[in-house]
Amino acid sequence: MQPEHLRAVVYVLSSVAFIIGLKQLSHPRSARRGNLIAAAGMLLAIVATMAMPTSEGRMLGNIGLILAAMALGTLIGWISARRVPMTAMPQMVSLFNGMGGGCAAAIALLEMVHASEDGTRLEPAAASMIAASAIIGSVSLSGSLVAFAKLQGILERSFRFRGQNVANSAIAAAALVLSGIVVAQGEANPAMLAGSVALALLYGIAFVVPIGGADMPVVISFLNSCTGVAAAFGGLYYRNHVMLTGGIVVGAAGMLLTLLMARAMNRSVLNVLFSHFGETAGASGGASHRTMRSITPDDAAVLLGYARDVVIVPGYGLAVAQGQHALVKLASELERRGVRVRYAIHPVAGRMPGHMNVLLAEANVPYEQLVEMEAINPDMPQVDVVLVVGANDVVNPAARTDPSSPLWGMPIIDADRARNVIVIKRSMNPGYAGVDNALFYLPNTSMLFGDAKAMLEAVLENVKSL
Ligand code: TAP
Repeated sequence: MQPEHLRAVVYVLSSVAFIIGLKQLSHPRSARRGNLIAAAGMLLAIVATMAMPTSEGRMLGNIGLILAAMALGTLIGWISARRVPMTAMPQMVSLFNGMGGGCAAAIALLEMVHASEDGTRLEPAAASMIAASAIIGSVSLSGSLVAFAKLQGILERSFRFRGQNVANSAIAAAALVLSGIVVAQGEANPAMLAGSVALALLYGIAFVVPIGGADMPVVISFLNSCTGVAAAFGGLYYRNHVMLTGGIVVGAAGMLLTLLMARAMNRSVLNVLFSHFGETAGASGGASHRTMRSITPDDAAVLLGYARDVVIVPGYGLAVAQGQHALVKLASELERRGVRVRYAIHPVAGRMPGHMNVLLAEANVPYEQLVEMEAINPDMPQVDVVLVVGANDVVNPAARTDPSSPLWGMPIIDADRARNVIVIKRSMNPGYAGVDNALFYLPNTSMLFGDAKAMLEAVLENVKSL
């Protein structure tokens, strides 16, 4: 077999590995393997690109430089992935995603420079692919960096003004016009494309800056999809099948995830991206005149220790407190006493897709004990105690009862329908949506105030001494 044919075969194998890897990422049990399969596919594609000639018989140059850059990138990626705490994962994904977008844009710009140096005429199709890759990749780069800064707490304010969407659209339109001129000219014009890239970078910043920090996971997923599309345009330009497949897979997966997250929050993607909600200001948290009941770890231990059926609802606060191991120890102690324990998983509990699954998997909770919201809700009236740990919005009954609530219509875990509810959180402060929670004032609800990890450990000690 000719080496260039062998390369095509390897590319097909890599593409298949990407697709199988992605499929396996859809379940926590197979996700680790899926990640490895996709990474192996990428390694294969890189080796084939470096070691085998293209269909025109050309070999890749600058191998030494490429290897050095890869070694540096691998080292940085390895260290940051090992060091990053689970709660900071969204910003790391954002940073990595931004790098992908930046690469796509840089490659597109370089191709324009090469075409200009060689005096090559650019067909409209080829010029459009280069321009699309440059613009979309640039938006992804700067937007992801802003998302990173917001989640990392470097950028705390969301800058907003009247007519912001119009101003932003004008920047995007200007970027498109410059690129349109490059395509229409038919000859390489790196300066004009660079102008378009600068405007696209500005648009990425202007687009993400007004969006509230809590909506960042949706924004990151959307920008991730953009990076995939930018890479796919690059793949089309080079007629490189593995780059094209990889780009399409990332683009489609990112867009699906964006849609699913928005749907689980009962909002449209346009509402998330352009309504500039997602800020938790203006909360009515502690100001309520209604009464609630506060209990001690001792009281909670009695309620839990003598129950038959307990459902645990984990939320963002559990991840913040890193209380997953303490929670599992408490659950095991309850099971030892003959209590049936299950975990109710809401699709958008926490701050990233699958956040609770990952958190509980870290503490070795068997997947069989994780029950989806739709499956657990019908059981709620028979449940003796629902233990809500650091969750708030995902158990707010206003989603069912109050049409004026921002949560109205969002599917929730019906904790309020259980016989007893214990809520562990530090204060009466609201969650991400910034609204008061009627669950906390119900007669069957008891509030256990404190850090989730500390409270779970205290309840465990008390259960042991029952
Ligand atoms: P939230 O509604 O955000 O509530 C979390 C609660 O945890 C807070 O009320 C906070 O109350 C408590 N908390 C924080 N630190 C704590 C600690 N150390 N110990 C104990 N409690 C602590 O969380 P949720 O119920 O998981 O809902 C998730 C929200 O995020 C939803 O509104 C969802 O739409 C949104 N969202 C989710 C995603 C994804 S993909 N998961 C993406 C974007 C937005 P205190 O301050 O009083 O302790």
